[in-house]
Amino acid sequence: MVQILFDRQINPAYNNMIVTVYVKIVESFFLNSSSCQKGRRRKEGNKGVIVTTGLEPGEETLRHAAELASTLGLQVVNRRDFSLGQMRKRYGVEEVLVVSALGARLEVPGKKPFFFHPNTSAFRIKRLMRGDTDTMLVACQIQPGDEVLDATLGLGADAIVFSHATGANGKVVGIESERLLAILVEDGLRHWSSDAEELEQAMRRIEVRCGNHLEVLRGLPARSFDVVYFDPMFEITVQSSSGIAGVRELANPDALSEEAVLEAQRVARKRVVMKEGKEGRMYERFGFTPFRSRGQQVVYSYKEIGGGE
Ligand SMILES: C[S@@+](CC[C@H](N)C(=O)[O-])C[C@H]1O[C@@H](n2cnc3c(N)ncnc32)[C@H](O)[C@@H]1O
Repeated sequence: MVQILFDRQINPAYNNMIVTVYVKIVESFFLNSSSCQKGRRRKEGNKGVIVTTGLEPGEETLRHAAELASTLGLQVVNRRDFSLGQMRKRYGVEEVLVVSALGARLEVPGKKPFFFHPNTSAFRIKRLMRGDTDTMLVACQIQPGDEVLDATLGLGADAIVFSHATGANGKVVGIESERLLAILVEDGLRHWSSDAEELEQAMRRIEVRCGNHLEVLRGLPARSFDVVYFDPMFEITVQSSSGIAGVRELANPDALSEEAVLEAQRVARKRVVMKEGKEGRMYERFGFTPFRSRGQQVVYSYKEIGGGE
């Protein structure tokens, strides 16, 4: 639920496109929709978030900001020539979502800005196009046309690689429990522009669902995806990518549950695969087969469905 706290002011310069409204998110707004969560690690006392643009936004940026704000159930606050500090004071918030020609970024005082970027997927796709292999794809035995459920979307790098490999006839759905993260990543997947056409196409094909994967899995028919993939957060410290580290503040740190793994085995047609650090023993706990690759900082492990190798 969104509360409008003070009144609006039409900005004629933008053909009435932007209505300047200050909206404060009532806490329950983030919590009431299905199983989407407000990031649990974020400090108490956040008063809300506003959506605005960079200084002197172009029309495309204004459109993008309006679209993002509407997804969040908010409206865009006119930036005028205020600094972010001034905006925070004026509207009594800490978190500001700033949309610019480069995309959307979340600005929180004292923290690095968070923004979507393709992270490791860009060079992994380049390598695949050169004919190299990708350990995750091999562990998952991905074929063109496969349908993949990435149950821990995060920044979406793995999902982008899946999407590239499954191709236009395949399907990749990414589940993310944290609402703001899911919205920013979905927005990035739709807007990020790249000279690498393959990367861009792979990003555009991904479908994002915000929810807890256990609940989403429970609602899915048996054998409805070829592969279900888990890359839970508690292994973050061993993930070499600094890109994903930026997600930590917003992410759900819960360990993978046995219920989710069992549901995944019902939903998958071919394999359930998980990723953990090289010291991790999650695969033993769940009876998965480790798929080791020399020199890797991570271990993929899998459970074959209906057969086994
Ligand atoms: C390590 S990150 C995944 C990184 C991702 N594979 C990538 O390539 O960017 C784990 C993500 O899963 C999300 N997550 C954790 N538990 C979840 C759950 N039960 N349901 C949905 N998402 C979950 C976290 O919020 C976090 O964004």
